[in-house]
Amino acid sequence: MSALLDGKALAERIKAALTEETQEFVASTGIQPCLATVLVGEDPASEVYVRSKRASCAAIGFASRHCALPSDTTQEALVALIGALNADPAVHGILVQLPLPRHLDADAIIDAIALAKDVDGFHPRSMGNLALKKAGFVSCTPAGIMRLLEESGLDPVGKRAVVIGRSAIVGLPVALLLTHAHATVTLCHSLTARADLEAAVRGADIVVAAVGVPGFVPGAWIKEGSVVIDVGINRVTDPERPKGRLVGDVEFEPAALRAGWITPVPGGVGPMTIAMLMSNTLLAAQRAAVSSTPSR
Ligand code: GUN
Repeated sequence: MSALLDGKALAERIKAALTEETQEFVASTGIQPCLATVLVGEDPASEVYVRSKRASCAAIGFASRHCALPSDTTQEALVALIGALNADPAVHGILVQLPLPRHLDADAIIDAIALAKDVDGFHPRSMGNLALKKAGFVSCTPAGIMRLLEESGLDPVGKRAVVIGRSAIVGLPVALLLTHAHATVTLCHSLTARADLEAAVRGADIVVAAVGVPGFVPGAWIKEGSVVIDVGINRVTDPERPKGRLVGDVEFEPAALRAGWITPVPGGVGPMTIAMLMSNTLLAAQRAAVSSTPSR
């Protein structure tokens, strides 16, 4: 039976440390870190995510500025809002909750965010910096996964890792981070032949699943003693639980019998994402404070 990688508990410890660091920062600079959250439309899941990000801001001692826009908001209006938030020195981080309504060009919106306020790390230049191992904001879920491994003493050096999913938000950046951490990385995706996926998972010391399909990875494929990081958060319903329950991309029970370490869903990667967003926001405020200090 595996040990649980308790992202919830680690996220709480990280947020407690950030709370202390924020108090010291506010006391020494008089600046309160501020995250602007932008939500377009009424997607219930996005509303939940944004609410919990704002609650974390309040708990840590950040200000947050929430911009809720109707679903028929135009591209021009949204770009103008981003421009105003970029120009506002009281705002240190900008988060545009994705997905955006289909008529909006999300790439162009993300391009409009000032690099210094890109606490989500989704800007193409932030992604470029990550790929090239240069300083910049690392997107929050991948950063949370790496922190979870690190804090659990699970060093990827020389390990075989398989990342399932190639999204710009999780799969691609986590494959890069694991590569930088000296793992040997195989990146699989929705068009990887099932037999190739199976072979990759069976041989993997670290499995990161981020496809958004419940039970996509059978537990029987998991190698004995390996590390399983399940990024999937899928709601499934059955007659016993008509409201549904959350499950990951990996079949949890059989995988837990084989893995050495495994993240629960919920309570694994999800809380780490928010902790890393808070960490990036404090960093953005610290960098802004340094760059606005007049040099003598
Ligand atoms: N939608 C799903 N995950 C995320 C995230 O980490 N950031 C933003 N902005 N939107 C998301």
